[in-house]
Amino acid sequence: MAPSRATAFESPPRLTRSSLEAVLASSDSARSLPRAAFVDPLGYRLDAACFFERAWLAAAHEGDVEVPGAWSRHMNPARRDLTVVRCADLELALVSSTCRHRGAPLVEGERGCAARLELVCPYHGWTYDLDGTLRRAPGLADGVDRDALGLHAGVVAKRGPIVFAATRTPEAAPTPVLPPWLERAELDVLRRVFTAMHVVAANWKLLVGNFQEAHHFPHVHPALEARTPFAASSSVTPDHGHWLGGVMELAPGLETVSGTGRREGRRWIAAPEDRGRVHDAWIAPNLLTSLQPDYLLTYRLEPEAPDRTRVVFAIDVHAGAPEAEIADGVADLVAFWSNVNAEDRAICEAQQRGLAAAPNDHEAGPRASSEDGLDAFERLVARAYLDVLGRDDA
Ligand code: FES
Ligand SMILES: [Fe+2]
Repeated sequence: MAPSRATAFESPPRLTRSSLEAVLASSDSARSLPRAAFVDPLGYRLDAACFFERAWLAAAHEGDVEVPGAWSRHMNPARRDLTVVRCADLELALVSSTCRHRGAPLVEGERGCAARLELVCPYHGWTYDLDGTLRRAPGLADGVDRDALGLHAGVVAKRGPIVFAATRTPEAAPTPVLPPWLERAELDVLRRVFTAMHVVAANWKLLVGNFQEAHHFPHVHPALEARTPFAASSSVTPDHGHWLGGVMELAPGLETVSGTGRREGRRWIAAPEDRGRVHDAWIAPNLLTSLQPDYLLTYRLEPEAPDRTRVVFAIDVHAGAPEAEIADGVADLVAFWSNVNAEDRAICEAQQRGLAAAPNDHEAGPRASSEDGLDAFERLVARAYLDVLGRDDA
C-alpha cells in the first residue's frame, strides 16, 4: 500500500526534554545541544523567551549614533524594532520605530539620520521627538492623552563603544556586566576604524558555540593558530550567566594578533597585566568581544530566523594614535580578520546545513575536554530551555 501523505515525509525535529537533559549530564556522558535547538522554530521562540526578552542586549555601536538624529535599529527574535537614537541634547534614547497610530515603520534599514531632528511617520504624518515623545498627530482629538502615545521602549547603557539596551532595567543587573579584563581596559578612548555587516546562514547559537572554543583553530584558521595556538588557550566559565570567556596566549615574539604580529603604532588598550594574550568573551546574549592588547573586536549578533543571523563586526583602536600613522597597520588588521571571519562564517554555515540535513534520529555527540567553554554555553542554554519548558508544563 502506498504511504499516506502524513507518513511520506518525516516531521521536523522537535526539542525534547530528554535531549536537553543529556546536555546537563556529568561531563563524561554529556552531549551537545540537540540539532533541534538549531533548526526547530520552537528553539528560536525559546531563545526569545530565555535570552532576548530578559537582559541587556548589545543594540548599537556608538560609531553609528554619534550626531544628533543618528539612529541604529536593532533586530532580534523577541523585540524586532528597538532603535537607539542620539537626541538633540546628545543623550541616547531607546525607542520603538513602529508608529503608535497604525503601525507604519518610522525608519527603514539598519541605520540612518533623522532629518530635522524628528521622527516623522510617512503614512499620516505623526511626528515624534527623537526621544520618542509624540509631538504632532494631525487630526487627533484634543482630549487624547498624547503622553501615552510615545515611542519610549526602555533604557540604554553605554560601555565603551557598545550601546546596550533593555526594555526595563533588569533587576539582576542594573548595568551590563562585563568580564574583568574589559573592566580594566581603556574602553572609553576607543575609535572605530572598521565595520562590516554579514548575514550568516546559521543559527546564532552556532556562532556563539564556535566562538567558545579554539579546538577548531588548527583545522579552520591556520593563520590564527600560528598566532594564538589552540594548545595555549583556556576557558573562563563563571556560572552567573552574564558572560563566558576564553584566554589565548600569543605565540612567542608577537605583540598582537595581526598579519605582522606588531602593534604598528597602535597604543595599548588592555591593562598591563592583560597584555601578551587575547581575551575573548561572549556577553550574554548577543555580543562577542575579543580584547587584543591594542584593539577590540566586537561582533553583534542579531538573529533574523532560526537559520539566519545578522552579524555586525567592528574594530576599535585607541583614539590617541594619529590616523595617518596607523593606517597601514589597520589595513593589515582588516585583511587578517576578514579572512578569519570568512573562515568562521563558512564553517558555521556548513554546520547549519549538516544539522538541517541530518536524519531525525541523529544524536548529538559528546564534547571534547578542550570544549569546556562550549560546554558551559550549551549547559546554560539547556538549563534556560528546560526552565521555560518546565514552567509551561506545570
Ligand atoms: S501609521 Fe503612522 S501616522 Fe498613521
Ligand atoms: Fe573561529
